[in-house]
Amino acid sequence: MKAPKYQWQPTTAEIATAAGIPPDQVERFDHNTSPFPTDWAPAVAIRSLSGLNEYPGADYRGLRVAAADSSGLTSDQIVPGAGADELILLCGRAFLERGDTAVAATPTYPLYEISTLQAGGVFQSIPSASPNFEFPADEVIRSARDADLVWICTPSNPIGNTVDDDVVEAAIAATDGLVVVDGAYAEFGDQDWTERVESHHNLIVLRTLSKAYGLAGARVGYAMAHPDLVAAIDAVRPPGSISSTSVDLALAALDSPSQMRRTVAATIESRSELATRLTDLGLRVLPSTTNFLLCEVGPESHSVAQQLIDVGLVPRKFPIDGPLGEHLRFTVRTAPAHDRLISALERCLR
Ligand SMILES: Cc1ncc(COP(=O)(O)O)c(C=O)c1O
Repeated sequence: MKAPKYQWQPTTAEIATAAGIPPDQVERFDHNTSPFPTDWAPAVAIRSLSGLNEYPGADYRGLRVAAADSSGLTSDQIVPGAGADELILLCGRAFLERGDTAVAATPTYPLYEISTLQAGGVFQSIPSASPNFEFPADEVIRSARDADLVWICTPSNPIGNTVDDDVVEAAIAATDGLVVVDGAYAEFGDQDWTERVESHHNLIVLRTLSKAYGLAGARVGYAMAHPDLVAAIDAVRPPGSISSTSVDLALAALDSPSQMRRTVAATIESRSELATRLTDLGLRVLPSTTNFLLCEVGPESHSVAQQLIDVGLVPRKFPIDGPLGEHLRFTVRTAPAHDRLISALERCLR
């Protein structure tokens, strides 16, 4: 089967042109990135520029050690990638063969299906039931028995909830295949699967510096797993997909996580304020342990989204005929951005 294409969101420049506003007035509520500029990053990036005539060391040894130190693992349990996205694609390439089955609760992050299909595998979608889209634990555990790979996104994108530890444990125990736990939003919740890679040799845990660390543009993530799994991913990893500047930014971020912790604390605080304001507008807001909120807006969701985009506020919308057709997802941004969003929504929903 031909792999589906990833649907790219319109660029900030395109939205600004269409809305007739400068690009810096476009507010991305759709990317789940940090609204806070990483103020230490320019100095680090400038320092790294003098070495750009050379390739980065292809083994990314320093990055492995830094990620290992920050997670309490050893460097042979870490493999870095150009974002968690690259690692998701590499997991498919490393571990799935033609005809193999990979399972995921849906709706979920679309790259799991793309990775599976690109590897020639069969993607088995296990729908979460509306209205709350709770994780279909029994069905996933049952399907895990025959699966070669189970994708678990926790905290989950796009729903925002956490999959219970016991459920993930049960999926790991049920399958003879691998379980990939994507923790792209782990810092915003209180679930940490890092330590469990020590005891589970069929577990791969993904992390990114794109969300809580505020380095989405640098494109750095890492996978944590048993050294044999790390070696299998390394065997299909391109040699230099993370630039030296990105490596230096990641090293600085991992070495000094204080800004990340402040960002997470501020995000969690404004997440609940934004949830209250959206609820006050009559929208149903699903519980979130991430840096975004999924809201049930109703049958007008796409028209509401377009009215927001027209004024430079970009929510994440979903296929209208799909399970989240009546929902919009909003990234938690700054207080002024929230004021703009709430005023615009008041006008649309009037
Ligand atoms: C669940 C999930 N996994 C992975 C990614 C990609 O992360 P990265 O920027 O590290 O490629 C995202 C980005 O939105 C995500 O939501």
